[in-house]
Amino acid sequence: MDTTVDIQPLTPDIVKNNVGRLIEMSKQLKGDYWTLEHYMGELNRKWELSSAVYKGDRLCAFIINSEKPESLHVHRIVVSKELHGLGIGKKLIYKIVEDAKRLGKGAVTLKAENDNPQSLGFYKGLNFEITGEQGHLVLMTLKVTT
Ligand SMILES: CC(C)(COP(=O)(O)OP(=O)(O)OC[C@H]1O[C@@H](n2cnc3c(N)ncnc32)[C@H](O)[C@@H]1OP(=O)(O)O)[C@@H](O)C(=O)NCCC(=O)NCCS
Repeated sequence: MDTTVDIQPLTPDIVKNNVGRLIEMSKQLKGDYWTLEHYMGELNRKWELSSAVYKGDRLCAFIINSEKPESLHVHRIVVSKELHGLGIGKKLIYKIVEDAKRLGKGAVTLKAENDNPQSLGFYKGLNFEITGEQGHLVLMTLKVTT
């Protein structure tokens, strides 16, 4: 299979033109409730730090990130189901790690569902560590050396 993909900055226009696709891909997340309003919501440096991934002209993955005082934070990462396991998720995390280095941040953080072994396995494989708990969520942190 041709696994070439094109990673671009996520823009408000990409979100507006593809919101149905974003919602469809996010059905992999249990109990997902995000609408256009959530995808468009303003966060610190969101549009600079978030990415859209295309295979040909089809949106096939995305990551939404923002800047926190001490870290860069991953709000959501989703890869279309038929393209799992091809290294796309890893590329998106590597990119935010590079952004963290560029911006002098000491960590990349995220919250994951503690009953989603698929995403926990993915993050642990990328050296994220569990650094806190919040109900059914775990806070995960990847230290970044700048
Ligand atoms: C989690 C997700 C983003 C991973 O993306 P992906 O493109 O399939 O992952 P990659 O192919 O980049 O995998 C990177 C590494 O993680 C490993 N990995 C992936 N899933 C794993 C799992 N369930 N358990 C252990 N390791 C896993 C891969 O083996 C790979 O390791 P390698 O580099 O040593 O081969 C994707 O599966 C997804 O979109 N899931 C549904 C949405 C979701 O749960 N998002 C996260 C919460 S917001």
